[in-house]
Amino acid sequence: MKFNKNLKRIELQTIRSFNNSLFHDNSTIDCSIGDPPYDTNPLIKQEAVESILGSDSHYCDARGFRDLREKIHNQNPMYLPEEILITAGASEALASTLMALIEPNDVVILVKPIFPLYITLLQLLGAKIIELETLDTAWQIQPENLMSYVGNQIKAIIINTPNNPTGIIYNQQSIDAITEFVQANDCWCIVDEVYKDYSFRPFISLTRSAKISHRLITIRSFSKSYFMCGYRLGYIMAKNNIINEILKVHQSVMTSLPLFIQKAGFKALDLSTSIQKEKIKRKRTLVYEELIKSNVEVVLSDGGFYLFFKIKGITDNSRFFCEKCAEHAKVIMTPGYFFHQEGFVRISVLAEEAVLKEAMRRIKKYLKEIWNTEQSENQEENAGDK
Ligand SMILES: Cc1ncc(COP(=O)(O)O)c(C=O)c1O
Repeated sequence: MKFNKNLKRIELQTIRSFNNSLFHDNSTIDCSIGDPPYDTNPLIKQEAVESILGSDSHYCDARGFRDLREKIHNQNPMYLPEEILITAGASEALASTLMALIEPNDVVILVKPIFPLYITLLQLLGAKIIELETLDTAWQIQPENLMSYVGNQIKAIIINTPNNPTGIIYNQQSIDAITEFVQANDCWCIVDEVYKDYSFRPFISLTRSAKISHRLITIRSFSKSYFMCGYRLGYIMAKNNIINEILKVHQSVMTSLPLFIQKAGFKALDLSTSIQKEKIKRKRTLVYEELIKSNVEVVLSDGGFYLFFKIKGITDNSRFFCEKCAEHAKVIMTPGYFFHQEGFVRISVLAEEAVLKEAMRRIKKYLKEIWNTEQSENQEENAGDK
C-alpha cells in the first residue's frame, strides 16, 4: 500500500532533531532555542488550573472561546469576534489556512530565508514554491524583484515579520511592495506575526493595509509572547468569508480547542510583554556586538529571538559548520540550510546573559581557529600553485 506521494518530498530531519544530535555533554550551550526557557506567568497557570478544577472538560465553539475572541477583537478592532479563529498555535493556523487555500500545483511565493514549516506544509499540499531572494537587500524585499513575478498565476505569498531567522521587520518599502504585488496579482497574503511582541523598532503590520484586507490572513501565537509554547495556542484574523472557509478545515482537524488552554490565553492577554522584550533586546545587542567584534557579517535584527550571521568565506556548508562548532566550541546553533539559505547560521539570544557571554567567548575562539586554519590552508594552496 502506498503513502501520500507528497511525503517523499519531506525530510524527516528537522531543526530540532538535528540540533538534538549535536548535544555532547552538560557543558554544551544551546543557542538554537526558539522555545523561551522561561516559566509561564503564574497567573496564566492559575487560570488553567482553576478551569480544569472547575470541570471545563467539554467541547467548545469550534471558532474558539467567545470571551477570548472578544478580547482579541478589542485589541484589534479591525477584526470582529466572528473574524477571529482560535487555533492550536500558529502551526495549526498555518496548516488550516493553507489547506483551505492551496490546491496541488498552485504557486506560492516564500521569502528567503524561509521558516521550514511553510515549505513542509506546501510540499504536503503538492504546491509549487518560488523562493524570493533577499540576500542583496539586507533581507528586505526588493520591489522590482517581487513585481517580476506578477502575472505568473501566483496563488499566495507568505510573509513572516518580525522574521525567523533574520529578525528583520519589513520596512515601509517592503510592505508597500507586498501590498502592490497582492493587488496586482489578486493573490492571498498570509502573514505570520508570531514574534510581533518582540519588535525593537516600530512594527508595521500588514493588517493596516486596508487595500488588501479582503486577501489578508494574519496569524499570531501565544507561544513566544507569553512563554506558552507547550500550551499550543494561537489565532487567525481574516475577513468573515475567509475565516469561514478556514473554519471548515479547523473544525475537521481539531473539533475545538481545550477550554482551559483558551482561558489561560484569555488571562495572558491582560499581561504586559514589555519587560521580557527589553531583556531580549539587550541580549540581542550583546550578541550582535560580539559578532561584529569577530568580523562576522550580520544584519542587526529588529525583533524576534535570533540573529542570522554569515559564514560564507569560512564554509558554505552550514550543517558542517554547526556540527564542528558543537564539537569544538560546545555551542549549538541552527544551520541556514534549514531556512534554504546556505552560508548562514542562526543564533538564538534566549539563554541567560551570563551563559550567552560564555557562548560568545567560545564562538569567537572557534571562529578565530577556523579562520586561521582556513587562511593557512589557503596560503599553502597558493604556495603550491606557484
Ligand atoms: C515564524 C514562526 N511561525 C510559526 C511558528 C509556530 O508557532 P506555534 O508554537 O504557535 O505553533 C514558529 C515557531 O517557532 C515560528 O518561528
